[in-house]
Amino acid sequence: EWTVASIVDDQVRAIRAQVGDGRAICGLSGGVDSAVAAALVQRAIGDRLTCVFVDHGLLRAGERTQVERDFVAATGVKLVTVDARERFLTALAGVTDPEEKRKIIGREFIRVFEQAARDIKAEGGVDFLVQGTLYPDVVESGGGAGTANIKSHHNVGGLPDDLSFQLVEPLRTLFKDEVRRVGLELGLPETIVHRQPFPGPGLGIRIIGEVTAGNLEILRAADAIAREELTSAGLDRDIWQCPVVLLADVRSVGVQGDGRTYGHPVVLRPVSSEDAMTADWSRLPYDVLERISTRITNEVHEVNRVVLDITSKPPGTIEWE
Ligand code: XMP
Repeated sequence: EWTVASIVDDQVRAIRAQVGDGRAICGLSGGVDSAVAAALVQRAIGDRLTCVFVDHGLLRAGERTQVERDFVAATGVKLVTVDARERFLTALAGVTDPEEKRKIIGREFIRVFEQAARDIKAEGGVDFLVQGTLYPDVVESGGGAGTANIKSHHNVGGLPDDLSFQLVEPLRTLFKDEVRRVGLELGLPETIVHRQPFPGPGLGIRIIGEVTAGNLEILRAADAIAREELTSAGLDRDIWQCPVVLLADVRSVGVQGDGRTYGHPVVLRPVSSEDAMTADWSRLPYDVLERISTRITNEVHEVNRVVLDITSKPPGTIEWE
């Protein structure tokens, strides 16, 4: 019989069987998948797991704290944080092509993670790498039979041979809703379990145009407002996620006070979905949309227009890049 508790038991047993008395590391992305994968492995092997959190500077407001404080408090996991913000900005300078961004972010992430892994390994043999790969990731990255590669998904993979890790992927057969239930079963806080899915490349693929410190700051501010308003309207559980996208390459004319503005638009992309394979645009209440729009244009000076994406998936993907 299928229950969440039995999934946890089965996975804990499978992880123990695979890892034996070996050691493992796990990259935390700030997302729910890696958090649940890490919590499962922590449950199975305790402090023989070390988690590595790479701050690539493409995170939303408050996400680093959520990992460093809340996740650690809930799981007791051993955590190493690497501050790589400058490195990512340098690598992304001048890049606007979506796939190129994804490749750069994925590559830099692997390099930073690899160095951290080497350091940890030097302290005493680590043989296993934990990944929060979900079933839809497997399918969309071309792992399933006959599926096209739509976007190159960013996960820690392809580490060099001399690191020679065996992969531990306890979520590989699960969909997102199942992963959330497993997270709750493991005692993770609601704020982590019901956090919107967030892509590995982070805000880097929600800036249409160049990823700069300035653009990140604008997007982070707009995104925080949208999230605050959706949360206070009690809508977090009704929508799957609501990417906020900065059109850094676009400007439009506006008016504020008695002055002309020439600012950037942000796009709200609220979607409802079961598993992210398909999605419908969310019919958010107009008063909530109005509050988000008013606050963003008042509080984020570089933004003078808020637009709503009303495209389902397909034909649109959830993220813009
Ligand atoms: P798309 O844009 O393909 O997104 O409709 C489907 C779901 O996947 C998330 N997403 C990612 N998650 N690494 C991830 O871990 C990625 O590279 C990535 N790209 C998109 C997206 O937020 C949505 O939930």
